[in-house]
Amino acid sequence: MVLGTGGTIAGTAQSASDNIGYTAAQVGVAQLLDGVPGLPAVLQGHDLCTEQVAQVDSKDMRFDIWLALAQRVVHHLAQAEVSAVVITHGTDTLEETAYFLHAVLPQDLISAKPVVLTCAMRPASALNPDGPQNLMDAVTVALTPGSHGVVAVCAGTVHGGLDVQKAHTYKVDAFTSGDAGPLAYVEEAQVRLLRKWPLAQVNKGHVAIKDILKDEVWPRVEIVMNYAGCDGQVVLAMLQPRDSVAPLRGLVVAGTGNGTLHHDLERALRQAVQSGVKVVRSTRCANGRVLPVADSEFAHSEDLSPVKARIALMLGLMSR
Ligand code: SIN
Repeated sequence: MVLGTGGTIAGTAQSASDNIGYTAAQVGVAQLLDGVPGLPAVLQGHDLCTEQVAQVDSKDMRFDIWLALAQRVVHHLAQAEVSAVVITHGTDTLEETAYFLHAVLPQDLISAKPVVLTCAMRPASALNPDGPQNLMDAVTVALTPGSHGVVAVCAGTVHGGLDVQKAHTYKVDAFTSGDAGPLAYVEEAQVRLLRKWPLAQVNKGHVAIKDILKDEVWPRVEIVMNYAGCDGQVVLAMLQPRDSVAPLRGLVVAGTGNGTLHHDLERALRQAVQSGVKVVRSTRCANGRVLPVADSEFAHSEDLSPVKARIALMLGLMSR
């Protein structure tokens, strides 16, 4: 089952030579698959079905789309005749959707079957689009015996949903798994596995989809960053109540290095904690994880990037 959500993989430009001036999310997922030569060989007799869950540029990803997507993934994975779900997605927030699905999909389903996100850095109309090969590789991963868990496939590399991170603005090979390293490579319709397929989230961080549905308004959690001259005023401004804006419930701070904070920002964050806002210390470094420091009054994100730590915090606040 291939679920479409939009992105550059479904984007079109006026000219085939234009790789950046395109509009994302224009081509339907069924039409995208029609344009992939060689797919029947990879399918090895399996049927390919499609469903358009959304059609967005992933910079505009919304919580209602995440929920609908999670519900459709659960619906399809629960069917005995469905072997796997592939999701076409924009590259810009793919890592957030991957983490969200990893955190909320039922353990029994994703321990048995894979959910494979894929994407493209060049629009479907490009001279040399990367979407068709990525789709073929994603289907290969989806049908590889033993594959399971939430993974992402781009440029011949398979990344775990927990680790995947967009690391380049333009290159076709735009993703990294950071310190964890890639999960596998796809070479000529064969998966070369380097580590074990990802395990479903057990207890820690897992939130059932039915518990998310209870919260009509998701807890507001924002991200702030530490930098030279950071005075924390942005945090103090966010603590002020405003009509028709949901109150701030959480803050993830992308600190410097091991999550270190300018003392003025730290003071403002302490004030946030006193106002009942949950603060999680993360890092603006692309690699490494935040190691706990003694006596810190802020929680730490462990190995989650700021955007993933924000999702974990939102889900954590919902499940209380
Ligand atoms: C998007 O994220 O939807 C647009 C950019 C891309 O897919 O590369």
